[in-house]
Amino acid sequence: MNRKALIKKFDKQANKYNKRRNNDRASKFREQIFPEAEGNVLEVAIGSGLNFPFYNKDIKLTGLDFSPAMLQVAQASAKNYPFETTFIEEDVESVTFDENTFDTIVSSGTLCAYQNPIYTLNKFQKWCKSEGKILMMEHGICNKKSLALLQKTLDPLALKLFGCRQNRNITELVKKSHLKMIKEERYLAGYLYLVWAKP
Ligand SMILES: C[S@@+](CC[C@H](N)C(=O)[O-])C[C@H]1O[C@@H](n2cnc3c(N)ncnc32)[C@H](O)[C@@H]1O
Repeated sequence: MNRKALIKKFDKQANKYNKRRNNDRASKFREQIFPEAEGNVLEVAIGSGLNFPFYNKDIKLTGLDFSPAMLQVAQASAKNYPFETTFIEEDVESVTFDENTFDTIVSSGTLCAYQNPIYTLNKFQKWCKSEGKILMMEHGICNKKSLALLQKTLDPLALKLFGCRQNRNITELVKKSHLKMIKEERYLAGYLYLVWAKP
């Protein structure tokens, strides 16, 4: 799918993501990992800002997304939180930051969307300070065979409808990248991956 079409797809989902704010089934998992974000934080593909409630008040947050509609919603929501925010409308796969810029890089529900996820993880490795951390909550292939088969079958449809792949193995992607995996937890038959990594 070309970039323009993908951005349009996410623009159309911005309201749905905004409404999810009060009824987000992933919030208990976000709460397990994102309070650990500290310092100068980059949240890639920030969407409508569903991680805001879990951030410490003293972080300095840069939120990036290529969907202007998602960013608009995130920007409005950020007014309800005490931390300092900057928003950037860019594509994660082409944007550049100086090396060693961020203390924490946060990613949630985004590795499913990138054309080249390993290339993107390698960018995180460069952008993050050597003593910093990368925190991720991603969905991917289940560890239950019957569900994994269903995910593989539905993958082309999910890509067409939501711009989102169902069958990526997040553990393998992280291991193939330049990041060092520190800890991983899997939930919901292995569908949901929480990953703590270092550059
Ligand atoms: C499934 S939503 C997740 C949003 C948010 N991270 C969350 O946890 O709710 C995926 C988001 O990634 C953004 N996105 C996907 N690919 C992107 C890219 N290459 N560059 C920037 N944003 C991207 C979409 O616009 C969308 O906001």
